[in-house]
Amino acid sequence: MPRHVACVMDGNGRWAQRRSLPRTAGHQAAESAVIDVVEAARTAGVRWLTLYAFSTENWNRPGTEVDHLMRLVRRAVRRHAPLLLARGIRCRFLGAADPRVPPELAQDFDDLTALTSGNRGMTLTIAFDHGGRRDIVAAARSLIRSGTPADEVTERLFADHLPFPDMPDVDLVIRTSGEQRISNFMLWHVAYAEWVFPEVLWPDFRAPDFLACLHTYRRRDRRFGGVPPRTNGERS
Ligand code: IPE
Ligand code: IPE
Ligand code: MG
Repeated sequence: MPRHVACVMDGNGRWAQRRSLPRTAGHQAAESAVIDVVEAARTAGVRWLTLYAFSTENWNRPGTEVDHLMRLVRRAVRRHAPLLLARGIRCRFLGAADPRVPPELAQDFDDLTALTSGNRGMTLTIAFDHGGRRDIVAAARSLIRSGTPADEVTERLFADHLPFPDMPDVDLVIRTSGEQRISNFMLWHVAYAEWVFPEVLWPDFRAPDFLACLHTYRRRDRRFGGVPPRTNGERS
């Protein structure tokens, strides 16, 4: 079982376009996929689930789409808070540093974080207004401010200056809609992640699709630069 699974929830716009609906209808339809995947991950025993909901680059979208997304996210956070609390899920938000994030939405993020902070089940991180490079630059700034001598900077120490130092490396990234790119997602944590690229568009992604991705992961041979275990110690 992967300890940390991350999803790049892609394909909402195309889902809507195929139905001759506005792109925002795709974002709306994405909500049920999120709920299904959170529940599937929790029951499967995944300890860390991270969902990419809005990137630092997504500010380039038309203002009307961005505003609509902000409203949808706000509604979803409020609506599902009691269920997340009851299921023992600890919620966190990665990002939301931009002043364009409406203050009332940032407040809802803080409220849900506080409400579920005592939960000890799965940790659900929503990456919202997230950029992998921005987090790395912020960590570098924080390290410099701490006065750490250059020779003492290690990978572990560097990671301690990233937003959530307790967050383990990502084991599996699922990017829906067939697109195969990182799009500035958790650059530090995906260093050795396995990737799967299901063709299904995010609004159609359901628990069985998620479980199929876990199955694919289990068949992967994770070497971390080494050799497969059975050849270990073999004479060449
Ligand atoms: C992902 O779906 C949702 C966000 C980035 C907020 P898209 O909106 O990127 O959907 P496509 O890629 O245009 O189909
Ligand atoms: C990445 O998807 C961000 C999220 C899923 C939130 P995009 O659809 O915005 O990525 P690009 O622009 O196609 O790389
Ligand atoms: Mg997209």
